[in-house]
Amino acid sequence: MTEQIAVIEGDGVGGEVVPAAVRVLEAVADFEFVHAEAGDAVAERTGDPLPDETYETVADADATLFGAAGETAADVILPLREAVGSFVNVRPARAYPGVDALRPETDLVFLRENTEGVYAGHESDLSPDLSTLTRVVTTSASEQLAEFACEYVTERGLDGFHVAHKANVMRKTDGRFRDAVTSVADANGVETTEVLMDAFATRLPLAPEQFDVVVCPNLAGDVLSDLAAGLVGGLGLLPSANIGVDNALFEPVHGTAPDIAGEGVANPCATIVSAAMLLEHLGYDAAGEAVRSAVESVLADGPRTPDLGGEASTDAVAEAVVSRL
Ligand code: NAI
Ligand code: MG
Repeated sequence: MTEQIAVIEGDGVGGEVVPAAVRVLEAVADFEFVHAEAGDAVAERTGDPLPDETYETVADADATLFGAAGETAADVILPLREAVGSFVNVRPARAYPGVDALRPETDLVFLRENTEGVYAGHESDLSPDLSTLTRVVTTSASEQLAEFACEYVTERGLDGFHVAHKANVMRKTDGRFRDAVTSVADANGVETTEVLMDAFATRLPLAPEQFDVVVCPNLAGDVLSDLAAGLVGGLGLLPSANIGVDNALFEPVHGTAPDIAGEGVANPCATIVSAAMLLEHLGYDAAGEAVRSAVESVLADGPRTPDLGGEASTDAVAEAVVSRL
């Protein structure tokens, strides 16, 4: 069977790193790529950052590779995560040999709740002086995330995971999140270690080796994974997967990088490793592993893009990855 992969470059460096990752996928698998549009550019042209056609293409595909959207990011990525029914955002952050990292011991994975929290979008302007935001936490979404986390650590031979929350202050919402996650873990015989998310933000840079898998609410996962990016050499290295029950979307953690867009020097590694996650998700474990090894080898020996101190272009790095496959 030839799987259909929806490909959305989006804006800015999305147009550079996504074609690089597609080249890598073409070298290892026989997919049918269906290109679709989303983001600022299509919004300017049509008034709609996420055309219905794109939503349908993503919903119907076996998986999606997405780059980034600019100012319209929230109008694009939140509905697209919904289109694939994603309930968890998997964000691995690891340092690579040969890359100058603040914390070379860093090797952890964030499992971020992907549908609710403060990103559920219930914001209101109540008066000229007052805006409010309703934070949404359900037991069912927290339990679904926890079930995934239990499978995730069990498959990897780990005893348990950390749960980052702020239930000492947000007693009802994060209290519900914490209780749901820890009871599912208990039922599955998986250990949980609770950590308050502000304390976690201190402990992570001081002792990243203490953490393997961290389960967290939506906003916390977004912010803390960017913090982890800073420990391993920058956003050019962080991949992510939005996993649903029978569909998934893969994207770098970074945005459109307007400061370097158009120069052809964006680091494609985050998107190429996201493509490796896509391969593994569809059952092509050997191909996914081959892509990871090729990226590791290129990061160790070069060529490297300027964000990692090199002088290579996006295409030269992609070419080097393909040649090592
Ligand atoms: P950003 O991730 O685009 O850039 C932050 C910094 O990281 C910049 O200095 C950039 O040059 C660098 N960087 C990012 N990706 C890189 C790569 N592949 N290679 C080398 N350097 C890289 O975040 P920023 O600047 O906060 O946002 C820019 C735009 O992106 C905004 O319009 C924002 O809304 C959008 N955005 C979209 C996201 C999405 O579509 N999922 C996620 C985050 C931001
Ligand atoms: Mg972010």
